[in-house]
Amino acid sequence: MKKILITFGTRPEAIKMLPLFQEFNKYPDLFQTKICVTAQHREMLDQVLDFFEVQPDFDLNLMKPGQNLHSLTANIILSLKTVLEEFKPDYMFVHGDTTTSMAAALAGFYSGVKICHVEAGLRTFNIHSPFPEEMNRQITARIATYHFAPTENSKRNLIKENINESTISVTGNTVIDALLHSVEKVKHINNSEILNLKELINLNKKIILVTGHRRENHGEGFIQICQALKTIAERHHEVEIIYPVHLNPNVQKPVYEMLSHMDNIKLINPLSYPSFVWLMNQSYLILTDSGGIQEEAPSLGKPVLVLREVTERPEAVEQGTVILVGTNYESIVKKTNLLLSNNHYYKRMTRIQNPYGDGNACSRIIEFILKN
Ligand code: UD1
Ligand code: UDP
Repeated sequence: MKKILITFGTRPEAIKMLPLFQEFNKYPDLFQTKICVTAQHREMLDQVLDFFEVQPDFDLNLMKPGQNLHSLTANIILSLKTVLEEFKPDYMFVHGDTTTSMAAALAGFYSGVKICHVEAGLRTFNIHSPFPEEMNRQITARIATYHFAPTENSKRNLIKENINESTISVTGNTVIDALLHSVEKVKHINNSEILNLKELINLNKKIILVTGHRRENHGEGFIQICQALKTIAERHHEVEIIYPVHLNPNVQKPVYEMLSHMDNIKLINPLSYPSFVWLMNQSYLILTDSGGIQEEAPSLGKPVLVLREVTERPEAVEQGTVILVGTNYESIVKKTNLLLSNNHYYKRMTRIQNPYGDGNACSRIIEFILKN
């Protein structure tokens, strides 16, 4: 019996790791699997745990309002020590590039556990963008025993860093497993949040869905994004902008100050995962700096303008369903105008084709673990 500890702390990690937990649970004779949440996010994490109907075995409950990276990192390492001593896992799974991923990997390494890194090998090779995520993922790769790369491109990035090829498995991204699960499950549940959204939103208009949270966009980046959204809303009365605002105070403050008075901009709280997937499906266009949304949207045939200067997810950009626009006011307004006015250009971006996965990433990860 192999003992598995799955550790995560933020909303996107929960979305991408809970399908893996469910897959491990299909084999109770082979694996004893437990979940530890750092709760780097509290409300946004709990929304996902509720949807997947999962109760963590260990909850470190570490989120503080306006937390800083230094204390969060230190607290994760110290709190995890106790969990590792109690459960004594053989393998610890961490995800991606958050402070939880990096600090948990280090804590696991100190305790002699094999670290398995899911969504390994994404790179911009610029340690300041995304900050601090690029450094978090490079450190996690150094520490990890096994690397689950979503694409061949991410595998190549790892090989360039001299990671032994036999420790890498290309699996696709588990976010597509989560997306397909959500699309299916939402058919069978009565979701009051979706009913409320139907009341709030004028679905006869073209819906532009917006999200944003990246640290390197805090300050000037968010000001330019909000100015651009204001201009788009003023010029295009056929459009309604829906923006579920991330709970980070550095995001909440500028967004509510600059946009709450606009008639055709609706600022709302973060949505639970199935409601957000429903809203993506209703959208004409998505503007975001999110990593996960860049990966999900190509499965739904929704064009994405990425509000960042660089991306570690070049595959959908190369395929033509995602465009990198940055945070510059002029370029956001110009590209959005083009997509709203030129149907031929718009249609070219709506192909349903996903380079990030096919919904079977979790079973590939387990197949690999059974052999190692
Ligand atoms: C974190 C991750 C980022 C990831 C993002 C996903 C790091 C450094 N950053 O960024 O990689 O892409 O999550 O969303 O790991 N807050 C709440 N309730 C919540 C969540 C956040 O109130 O449920 C507020 C708190 O004041 C918290 C602050 O947001 O201190 C910032 O949270 P934090 O996890 O440090 O950073 P994010 O910007 O969310
Ligand atoms: N998401 C959600 N509710 C929202 C906004 C986003 O469930 O209100 C989901 C989205 O579908 C994606 C993930 O959260 O799977 C992205 O999270 P985020 O943008 O916070 O982080 P990132 O992907 O950039 O790390």
